Amino acid sequence: MKNLLDKKHKDLLTLKDYTKEEIENILKLAAEVKKDGKLYKDLLSGKSLAMLFDKHSTRTRLSFEVGISQLGGNSIYLDSKNLQINRGETLGDTAKVFSKYLDGVIIRTYSQKTVEVFAKESTIPVINGLTDLYHPCQILSDLFTIYELGLLKKDLKFTYVGDSNNVLNSLLIGFTMLGLNITVGCPEKCKPLKEVINYIKKQSEISGSNFKIVYDPLEAVADADIVYTDVWVSMGDKESAGKIKELKDFQINLKLLSYAKPDAKIMHCLPAHRGEEITSEAIDGSNSIVWVQAENRLHAQKALLVYLYSI
Ligand code: CP
Ligand code: NVA
Repeated sequence: MKNLLDKKHKDLLTLKDYTKEEIENILKLAAEVKKDGKLYKDLLSGKSLAMLFDKHSTRTRLSFEVGISQLGGNSIYLDSKNLQINRGETLGDTAKVFSKYLDGVIIRTYSQKTVEVFAKESTIPVINGLTDLYHPCQILSDLFTIYELGLLKKDLKFTYVGDSNNVLNSLLIGFTMLGLNITVGCPEKCKPLKEVINYIKKQSEISGSNFKIVYDPLEAVADADIVYTDVWVSMGDKESAGKIKELKDFQINLKLLSYAKPDAKIMHCLPAHRGEEITSEAIDGSNSIVWVQAENRLHAQKALLVYLYSI
């Protein structure tokens, strides 16, 4: 057990900071806590963690709040609009004060810089609960979902179709770190950020993973074992009719899925915009694993907390 808990990091701001081995250990811990929800039930006893959210949330907020409670801790939900940050108190000063009262903070915000500054100025663990750039907790959980299906292996054909956003950025990082192959199907105008591509190029040379970006949705999903998508307009994005038009051929529907393997699993981090990036037939169909995927947020969040707060 000890080797699963050996930790090198205080925070989780991006998956980039973790090693392959650390991520794999968190997945194993998630399997343990899923099997026995009472494991580590006193780990956070006497500890309080805040959740500082600038954006909406259902799964991230609930899975952390329930997870913290199941580990014996106390969670405090804070809407940043009601804090003095909203009246000009600096992030650094806020982080210093948080460090005096709390044992950790989960932040959902716009800029990645915000979580970085917070982590630098505080002495408590800072967890990125989604920024415009990354969503590492979601991807830890998604990797766990694939792991428990026994599909986390080199010959997995995993395809993400849709917009290049925080979820895709973290998927690309997670997959290439673990040496897994990933194909992205998107319109050329919506391709992933240069900084993410540069990072995963280097990473895949080290890990031996292959990543492909293709602009043809049929080619992207051909023979896929898993097809994943996310919303076309993320929180904080300016909705543009042009972008939605560009993306329309990348909708996950039964026709597109007929090009994937017959038993291809469908994943979506949720919330879904039914009729936009995915049809109801696809998300409610027998190959969809989105509800287990959502459930696993709880187990993966607990595993992350066990990893960060043990020792
Ligand atoms: N997938 C996800 O992060 O969901 P919420 O926005 O509801 O937290
Ligand atoms: N890309 C989406 C993910 C929501 C969990 C967003 O940022 O809104």
